[in-house]
Amino acid sequence: MKAIILVGGQGTRMRPLTNHIPKNIVPLCGVPFLTYQVEALRKVGIREIVFSIGYRPQDIKKVFRSGSHLGVKIHYALENHPLGTAGAIKNTEKFVKRSPVVIFNGDILTDIPLSTMIALHKKKKHWATLGLVRVEDPTAYGLVLMDPKGGITKFLEKPAAEEVVADTINAGVYVFEPEVFDLIPPGVNYSAERALFPHLLKDNHPFGGFVWEGYWQDIGTPRKYLTSHWDVLNGAFPVYAKLNRRQNKIFMGKNVKLGKGVLLKGPVIIGDGCVIHDDARILPYAVLGKNCVVGKKSMVSKSVLWDDVLVGDHVNLDEVILGRGCRISSHSRVGAGSVLGDHARV
Ligand code: GDD
Ligand code: MG
Repeated sequence: MKAIILVGGQGTRMRPLTNHIPKNIVPLCGVPFLTYQVEALRKVGIREIVFSIGYRPQDIKKVFRSGSHLGVKIHYALENHPLGTAGAIKNTEKFVKRSPVVIFNGDILTDIPLSTMIALHKKKKHWATLGLVRVEDPTAYGLVLMDPKGGITKFLEKPAAEEVVADTINAGVYVFEPEVFDLIPPGVNYSAERALFPHLLKDNHPFGGFVWEGYWQDIGTPRKYLTSHWDVLNGAFPVYAKLNRRQNKIFMGKNVKLGKGVLLKGPVIIGDGCVIHDDARILPYAVLGKNCVVGKKSMVSKSVLWDDVLVGDHVNLDEVILGRGCRISSHSRVGAGSVLGDHARV
């Protein structure tokens, strides 16, 4: 089996973090996000993956190249203008060559058991099977209703509050048979959620769901991106990334310099080449990228710092996200919940 990952969105809800990088490759615990999806596919024996790309394609190619370093073969299906989620799937057709495929929205982190889902898809002889999860508020997602036999009876994208009559939503993981590709018009913008799924329902094609009660998160907003780090660090999401594990859940890179009296309290990640000056405190759920500097008596907790961030002395950072190369001068204040884009200065 082959797989497709949808990587074309602009990540507008993640700005300013995504001003210089597609959201699908933002670092999650120091590893480009899509790596987690590639690993999940490789784990079930899927070795050929098509990235359906549109926004900043070179950035993505630079990171993933041929995929050989991850043990997979990656193809790139490039679109000149956004084709929508189904149009982007259709655009990969020449690579998947009429074989059944697993499809991922490129911004979800989940431990959904793909083998079980694929087995169910085959057993039920569905044309399409959607992974489904339960959430408290479905209004930001695709609401999905099922009959008792697991057939999908309704799909409603971004329902209004009064339309919410269930808690099962589209998790953004699909298995498709080649027949589904034939329903998508080529070369035009066509939405899976607003056009393709309603079409499958209208024409009564075999269309079912697989409900998953385990871990699931869409990382597409800064808050969810931040909490995904906490989930990886506290083990709610099983880690695929090869983290260099030290005692007390302190994941430390190479050539880290620690000053006198530095307090490290796990779980934390400290990237290669970081310098932590005297009496600084790196407290639970701090994630420091490569070559960050934390000044004297400063504190970092529940925060994500990308590479090359410089934090002066006597600065407290709690629940913030700082893009690459940010500079925070000594004694300045950055409020909890702040999100600063690359190279911001405070
Ligand atoms: N190639 C390509 N081209 N990819 C696209 C395009 C496009 O035109 N538009 C979106 N994508 C990619 C995005 O990069 C993302 O990985 C995925 O498709 C889903 O798009 P989002 O913009 O993140 O959609 P959403 O989060 O609002 O809703 C979708 O995901 C929810 C689960 O997280 C829908 O599929 C919902 O039904 C679902 O519940
Ligand atoms: Mg999304």
